[in-house]
Amino acid sequence: MKIFNVNNAQETKQIGTQLAYLLSAGDLLLLDGDLGAGKTTFTKGLAIGLGVTRTIKSPTFTIIREYQGGKFPLYHMDVYRLENGGGNELGLEEYFMSGGISVVEWSNFISDVLPKNYLKISFSRDDKHLDSTTRTITMEATNNHYQHILEQLDE
Ligand SMILES: Nc1ncnc2c1ncn2[C@@H]1O[C@H](COP(=O)(O)OP(=O)(O)OP(=O)(O)O)[C@@H](O)[C@H]1O
Ligand SMILES: [Mg+2]
Repeated sequence: MKIFNVNNAQETKQIGTQLAYLLSAGDLLLLDGDLGAGKTTFTKGLAIGLGVTRTIKSPTFTIIREYQGGKFPLYHMDVYRLENGGGNELGLEEYFMSGGISVVEWSNFISDVLPKNYLKISFSRDDKHLDSTTRTITMEATNNHYQHILEQLDE
């Protein structure tokens, strides 16, 4: 496990960018945490590191957005709208197995359709003041592959 304390959105992005350099084809990142905690912001940083030039938009209403043109395809999913189920009809497995980088916001809503290995990244706003920009980002690996990635990240 690795814990990052960040002071602002730019720092959250930078961790995403740094992580992107360490990823390989087929990697899966699960992003969980409160509304507005920084999951999409982190994904924007990740996209920069992958060399994706298109602007990352929150896929809340589309569920999946695909970005080509980077080192690997980026599949950005936001399953917030699946709070009441429906995750197994989306065909997400195809994305997970396709050799791109899959990022899932609110992955806890589809825990029954997720592969068993991933890097879990949790975002929390410890200071509940609306204007606070500090966040804690906790990363946990399920296997050696993801553990190895974690070990190479600077805290
Ligand atoms: N340290 C920080 N890290 C990330 N975002 C921050 C930080 N401090 C302030 N912010 C701001 O908080 C907001 C985070 O929004 P973002 O869309 O990334 O959250 P989210 O976790 O994806 O939310 P949602 O659950 O609605 O998808 C942005 O407006 C961002 O500028
Ligand atoms: Mg989001």
